[in-house]
Amino acid sequence: MSSSVSITLARPADARDIAEMSRDCVETGLGWSWTPPRVLHAIRDRATNVVVARGGAGELLGFGIMPYGDQRAHLSLLAVRAASRGQGVGRELLGWLEKCAVTAGLEGISLEVRRDNPGAVEFYRRCGYELAGTVPGYYSGVLDALRLAKTLWTPTGQPAD
Ligand SMILES: CC(C)(COP(=O)(O)OP(=O)(O)OC[C@H]1O[C@@H](n2cnc3c(N)ncnc32)[C@H](O)[C@@H]1OP(=O)(O)O)[C@@H](O)C(=O)NCCC(=O)NCCS
Repeated sequence: MSSSVSITLARPADARDIAEMSRDCVETGLGWSWTPPRVLHAIRDRATNVVVARGGAGELLGFGIMPYGDQRAHLSLLAVRAASRGQGVGRELLGWLEKCAVTAGLEGISLEVRRDNPGAVEFYRRCGYELAGTVPGYYSGVLDALRLAKTLWTPTGQPAD
């Protein structure tokens, strides 16, 4: 990843850009569920981290949204602007969110990804996620999801590799 890219928590003023990136990069063909008010709510939620990657001019390159539970975290959304993909930005955003989950002592992270998105499935596989099941009709009742998961701590309390 270029050294001019910075990873920080999102600000309320980022809500619209993030929501529009979700609409255009993730929710394509499904309707727009991550609207600006919903993203703003996540930014303000103390149990959720909304993280952004910015370029040297402060422009939004990508973002991730992760709510943290008592035992597990869930990756709700992750996207990188098309022109900035394949440069390590997605891995960096995910790593930032995972580090918070590890610090909080959580057992693992799960996520759902569209079955028709093999590129994202491969991205998550390379980031250490494994197939944990399928969820028929998860997206608006019309599109199946693959559930992926990563273990952060083993049942014996030893850190996962
Ligand atoms: C999936 C996504 C977030 C990946 O972000 P990215 O910045 O391009 O990913 P990185 O450059 O950090 O890649 C990390 C690794 O994944 C691999 N990878 C990334 N995209 C890939 C693809 N489409 N196909 C195969 N491998 C891919 C990279 O080769 C790299 O592997 P390596 O580190 O072993 O060499 C990005 O493509 C995206 O925003 N896609 C559209 C939205 C989406 O599908 N989001 C996920 C579902 S919510």
